[in-house]
Amino acid sequence: MSPRGFCVGTPRWPALPGLRWLLGLLLGLQAAHCPAFFLPGLAPVNFCEANRETASCKSSVALYVNRLDSVESVLPYEYNTFDFCQDYGKKSPSENLGQILFGEQITSSPYKFSFNKTETCIKVCEKSYDIANEDQKKKLAFLKKGIQLNYQHHWIIDNMPVIWCRDMEDGKKYCTPGFPIGCFITKRGTPKNACIMSSEFNKNNTFYLFNHVTITITYHRDSETNWSVARLVAARVDPKSYKHSDENCVTCNGPPMEIPGEYTDKLTITYTYSVKFEENKNIKWASRWDYVLESIPHTNIQWFSIMNSFVIVFFLSGMVAIIILRTLHRDITIYNLNASEDAQEEFGWKLVHGDVFRPPRNGMLLSVFLGQGTQILIMMFITLFLACLGFLSPANRGALMTCTIVLWALLGTPAGYVSAKMYKTFKGVEWKTNFLLTALFCPGIIFADFFIMNLILWAEGSSAAMSFRTLIGILAMWFGISVPLTYIGAYFGSKKKQFRCPVHTNQIPRVVPQQTFFRKPLLGIIIGGILPFGCIFIQLLLILNSIWSHQIYFMFGFLSLVFIIFLITCSEATVLLCYFHLCAEDYHWWWRAFFTSSFTAVYLFMYAVYYFFAKLQIAGIASTILYFGYTLIMVLIFFLFTGTVGFFSCFWFVTKIYSVVIVD
Ligand SMILES: *[C@@H]1O[C@H](CO)[C@@H](O)[C@H](O)[C@H]1NC(C)=O
Ligand SMILES: *[C@@H]1O[C@H](CO)[C@@H](O)[C@H](O)[C@H]1NC(C)=O
Ligand SMILES: *[C@@H]1O[C@H](CO)[C@@H](O)[C@H](O)[C@H]1NC(C)=O
Repeated sequence: MSPRGFCVGTPRWPALPGLRWLLGLLLGLQAAHCPAFFLPGLAPVNFCEANRETASCKSSVALYVNRLDSVESVLPYEYNTFDFCQDYGKKSPSENLGQILFGEQITSSPYKFSFNKTETCIKVCEKSYDIANEDQKKKLAFLKKGIQLNYQHHWIIDNMPVIWCRDMEDGKKYCTPGFPIGCFITKRGTPKNACIMSSEFNKNNTFYLFNHVTITITYHRDSETNWSVARLVAARVDPKSYKHSDENCVTCNGPPMEIPGEYTDKLTITYTYSVKFEENKNIKWASRWDYVLESIPHTNIQWFSIMNSFVIVFFLSGMVAIIILRTLHRDITIYNLNASEDAQEEFGWKLVHGDVFRPPRNGMLLSVFLGQGTQILIMMFITLFLACLGFLSPANRGALMTCTIVLWALLGTPAGYVSAKMYKTFKGVEWKTNFLLTALFCPGIIFADFFIMNLILWAEGSSAAMSFRTLIGILAMWFGISVPLTYIGAYFGSKKKQFRCPVHTNQIPRVVPQQTFFRKPLLGIIIGGILPFGCIFIQLLLILNSIWSHQIYFMFGFLSLVFIIFLITCSEATVLLCYFHLCAEDYHWWWRAFFTSSFTAVYLFMYAVYYFFAKLQIAGIASTILYFGYTLIMVLIFFLFTGTVGFFSCFWFVTKIYSVVIVD
């Protein structure tokens, strides 16, 4: 999983330009009016030419390299796993937990530039491969495999991704925050990956390595500040392939760097670069991410997604409103009229008033799910809120994951409280068992899943594998912070009184009448999940793309709107179905309410399976296991929080309607 996917997020509110401003104002966080306010690592860096260097500006522009990844394989590899030019005085910018969890390994590179100094064709290093040397043979084979699987470099200059732009056939520019290692021509003469771009690549069964890069760095000078000081606003790369027949006098032109597909006798690869600086008068440092993100197109689909969600929500809201206003109102009037006239026969949902609050079977499990669902729900709300305000910005890589995990650990108390209180409402008495299950059950599943995936990554030598230390750190956070906090919540929850039900429960349960096909519980559950899923699935495609195809996801404003719409849809669908079932005198609503909305998770899973086969070209068992391992975690999280939302809306609804009818 890539944080580039999730965490890239300058606040974007094309639909609601005022809202962020308003929120910022409310919280006193409006960064624009408060130039000194920068989160650590997010302050701008000033650059100036080498001869003007002072303490407030520096001249050396460092290029960092991130791990390499590919759409065709889930496994990312560290830059140093490949035999590229290495930086021996290695240093990494400080990493955070989110970065480590997602295998971000940013290290320094031997590519170093001096600000505003144009360089042409500078040699970085040279690598030779001899067929007789086993070690070198292996390295070359790995490089070829990397090219074949279309592994992409991800370079970083001044906290910005170096982007690669190509002109497409339709005249549009297509940019990505990474560029390929190389490309190849198959034995049959079909050009693959980036080889389709040029007719220079024309030999059958040959690999072409992009051993030269031309980097264009754009800077901006602010007339208000110092004219000789500049800030970087964009960096672009243009990868090229050159054979460099004379290693000592590189010229950066001529035929491409070929690596024959079959037997190679001796091979020398020389890596080179050129760099040039450009001034841009329009892009300010503060809005440089907008520029990066604008060059990566996919705005239209967002509008479609929002419209789609809104239509569903309006439709559903309308239905629910009609039911509540008309039907319910009528029901209640008739019930209350009848109650005064007595002797009239009861019908519909009023009939089950003596059973509707009968505790469900497996109340323990249900309350544990509800506690954990609440924890995840609050966590998501806070994370999205912070992301919208721009705190989890792209510059702060991995911040989103760190934020999520820390928040989750800190939110143990609500989980314990809700779980204990619901358990008490379900007439449970073993609150300590309930607490233990709340603190350990679902996190345990997720951790076990994580651990198994990590074992696979270790076995594959991938850079996404967490170190043992990180694993211990996560365990410490779980048992050291989350579990005690859950205990506090559970303690208070179990001391509190249970929810007071508006009607009494009869001693003897009623017999539920035979239901028609359309009112079978399973059918209701299956239908109930469709609507909420329909309102998120386009957004879901973007999120899956950003996780697995390593595209940037940044529209947190949109995402939050869709999230809220989604929650509303979940609760409305559940309430609607709950009403229908109560009318049919089927009073087993507790679990059904939970399952109706959490069935969305099943659709999510089916969609993920579809996505796997239709959109990804993942090869290899390890990759497949990883994909489904992460999917499982996602599905479980979805299951918990959607179920919780559905359950509590239905609980609220049932409590409300039975508290207004007069029961004799
Ligand atoms: C960069 O170099 C160009 C050309 O030499 C010069 O015009 C420009 O002022 C320089 N920019 C900075 C920020 O020093
Ligand atoms: C490459 O292979 C194709 C198909 O086998 C063949 O038609 C073509 O002549 C080959 N080209 C070269 C340069 O060998
Ligand atoms: C502008 O910056 C340069 C280099 O940092 C410094 O030498 C110069 O004194 C500064 N000028 C002003 C007016 O601040």
